[in-house]
Amino acid sequence: MIEIGHLRDPLLSDISRADLPALEAIRVRALGKSGSITALLKTLGGLSPEERQEKAPAIQRLRADVAEAIEARRALLDAAALDARLAAEKFDMTLPVAPAPQGSVHPVSQVLDELAEIFADLGFAVATGPEIEDDWHNFTALNIPETHPARAMHDTFYFPDVDAEGRRMLLRTHTSPVQIRTMTASPPPIRIIAPGRVYRSDSDATHTPMFHQIEGLVIDRGIHLGHLRWTLETFLKAFFEREDIVLRLRPSYFPFTEPSVEVDVGFSIEKGRRVIGGDPEGPNGGWMEVLGSGMVHPKVIAACGLDPAEWQGFAFGTGVDRLAMLKYGMDDLRAFFDGDLRWLRHYGFRALDVPTLSGGVGA
Ligand code: PHE
Repeated sequence: MIEIGHLRDPLLSDISRADLPALEAIRVRALGKSGSITALLKTLGGLSPEERQEKAPAIQRLRADVAEAIEARRALLDAAALDARLAAEKFDMTLPVAPAPQGSVHPVSQVLDELAEIFADLGFAVATGPEIEDDWHNFTALNIPETHPARAMHDTFYFPDVDAEGRRMLLRTHTSPVQIRTMTASPPPIRIIAPGRVYRSDSDATHTPMFHQIEGLVIDRGIHLGHLRWTLETFLKAFFEREDIVLRLRPSYFPFTEPSVEVDVGFSIEKGRRVIGGDPEGPNGGWMEVLGSGMVHPKVIAACGLDPAEWQGFAFGTGVDRLAMLKYGMDDLRAFFDGDLRWLRHYGFRALDVPTLSGGVGA
């Protein structure tokens, strides 16, 4: 009896303070095969039935009490551990994204998105063509025959190969071959823009061997120069996000359009900066060429298997990189392709920024 009294209190007090490993040690020490309470139980075997009857209940109770205390303490510790884990794993959805977003949308990509959005609003689909072209699509079908001086003017990168039809392969020098690919692939009416990379063997502050153009083509019945002018004016006002954009159409020459028109936009000086828009005749104002265009040449329409007496249209082409420079104020085209992170951080756009004009053209 004395022994039971000596065991109980220290055991229960140890249990009440134990952590999980200590608790297991106590369990082994008291209730294990050679534990103190187990030893006590074993002494019952050597007692007389009377003594056993007297002592057994107290020992059994001690064993039950200790086992129960251990289980209660274990449950408490398990619950506390779970609470701690839940607190540590708590996820605060109001915190900013980590790590901070890196990188940015390149101005060329941004401008391509803006252009696609503007022209989508005007009912133009986006068409594409291969960057590795043949000389029929890039030149011949566009009314630039072998002997035409315009071929020499294009600083073309030629491949040594010819294709199955004996056509010379080249890197397209403009997006105009997509006009041909579109007209030969699907019947009019046609309203497309064709953005993409083009290549010319040329390099200085305003020329890179690869750059971006966007082509526009409309083929339908009864299309005339007025449609061209309205489309370009609407597009340029939307793109530069100002109403006071003035256009000047100058007669020009492209083999694939007749008549051909070069388009200038007026610029002016605002807060010491040159901006597109405003009064080109004002102090330090002037005109800047932004587009080549014209009515699609009947020979081009015929080369695509269409009857030029029935179908007419207009086409235009412009440099995307140059449009980006004019709108966002860069002055060296080469920086577009340097991959300099500082430049990209300064001029790039955030991925979630919506391109201009979500309100729509003419809104
Ligand atoms: N392809 C011409 C160029 O690269 C631009 C252009 C396109 C002109 C369509 C007229 C019509 O300069």
